[in-house]
Amino acid sequence: MVSSRRVAAGCARAARRGRTGGDGRLRSYTGLVTVPLPIVAPSILAADFARLADEVRAIEDTADWVHVDVMDNHFVPNLTIGLPVVQSLRAATRLPFDVHLMIEDPRRWAPGYADAGAYNVTFHAEACADPVALAKELRSAGAKAGLAIDRDTPIEPYLDLLPSFDTLLIMTIKAGFGGQRFIPNLLDKVRTARRHVNAGHLELRIEVDGGIAVDTIAEAAEAGADAFVAGTAVFGADDPAEAVRRLRSLAQCAAPRA
Ligand code: DX5
Ligand code: ZN
Repeated sequence: MVSSRRVAAGCARAARRGRTGGDGRLRSYTGLVTVPLPIVAPSILAADFARLADEVRAIEDTADWVHVDVMDNHFVPNLTIGLPVVQSLRAATRLPFDVHLMIEDPRRWAPGYADAGAYNVTFHAEACADPVALAKELRSAGAKAGLAIDRDTPIEPYLDLLPSFDTLLIMTIKAGFGGQRFIPNLLDKVRTARRHVNAGHLELRIEVDGGIAVDTIAEAAEAGADAFVAGTAVFGADDPAEAVRRLRSLAQCAAPRA
């Protein structure tokens, strides 16, 4: 049994020490307790698109992944960036790219993002007839495969598919726009997924996306999320690097102990 003081001290030390390196491996941070360190993935949707490379460099030393929201004006009403921007930005940073495709027909487009060097490529369950087949394609193209579940989609039909995936992205808003208010009820899906993942001993990141900020991240971590997308809370802050550190610290201290 580890005293809460030792855990808290380890929590603070680990939070100071910073990021995981993006590989999602389990690390021991007290020497006595082993838990996965949280991933913080700032979303460039909230960055200045005219200065994308500089914006990403500002979080280079503190973020774990860069979250890239690709929207096609069909699957969601909004329109953002596509493959050429990802290819150019890839050369500007060493941070792993966490690409979130909010597009129709991901089977056609997703492998191109893996080929462009994305670390993780997530597509929406609602947009794909055969998610397992696409996950296999992404993995064989050298990327991690992610499955995203939008606000109005139940998670149960997808639980049995999770062994084919490396990331499960649970929207905590309706996909399509940054700056929306976090919907706490959607964390029930995170709790369900976490129970399922733990029971199956799967290696899977459970990522939350939408409205994640200093006042919501602890609740999401307690529910079982271990990867956190944050747009406004990072790029809307005066000091984006410090915002990432603070978010990670809050997530880490709220995470259930192993
Ligand atoms: C919205 C995107 C999110 C968005 C989050 O559909 O998937 O990644 O950038 O932005 P915030 O953190 O501002 O809610
Ligand atoms: Zn996103």
